[in-house]
Amino acid sequence: MKVLVLGVLVGLLVLFPLSVYLYVRLGFLSLATTARPLPLEEFLAKTALHASIGSAADRKNPLAPTEENLLAGAKEYRDYCAVCHGLPGQPKTPFAAGMFPPAPQLLEGPSMVTDDLDGATFWKISNGIRLSGMPRFDTMPESARWQLTMLLKNADKLPLPAQAILRQPLAMPR
Ligand code: HEC
Repeated sequence: MKVLVLGVLVGLLVLFPLSVYLYVRLGFLSLATTARPLPLEEFLAKTALHASIGSAADRKNPLAPTEENLLAGAKEYRDYCAVCHGLPGQPKTPFAAGMFPPAPQLLEGPSMVTDDLDGATFWKISNGIRLSGMPRFDTMPESARWQLTMLLKNADKLPLPAQAILRQPLAMPR
């Protein structure tokens, strides 16, 4: 009996890594952006992201929510983010349309992050998100990253001058 249990265990220990290797080696793990998500991919990514952010999510925005800060945030967004995250009322850029996972359109529709904690948004801008295409922007001054956090938090109620900046079309090949 003991020998049988041992045999099954050793078999499993060898078979599991071997089948994972074959699954990848034979091309079942397609890395094309058009391929369907892998089993558990979204669950693992969400759980790991949540755990990576940890208590940094509790950080509060140190800047006052003034029109000046929102305007600066709108300009930074146009320069650094709009290419992937889009502008209100404008079609997705080729970059946004071709990404997997998709880049959420952060200024309109259901993928806005107005309900997210400031600390979590600031963490994502500062650290990026591995395996997703979301870069980190830690070369940008911290104040600019908080202005961007403020812009995204208030994306559904921006003052008119900030809206005007975001409505100008991007110069971008379609
Ligand atoms: C090259 C494309 C690209 C650029 C440029 C980019 N992002 Fe992203 N971003 C992504 C992708 C893709 C995701 C989705 C990641 C995921 O699914 O986990 C993302 C995710 C995010 C999220 C998380 C959204 C959510 O639903 O939790 C925030 C916030 C964000 N980006 C902010 C920014 C800001 C601010 C900028 C500009 C400073 C920026 N990004 C620039 C590709 C980009």
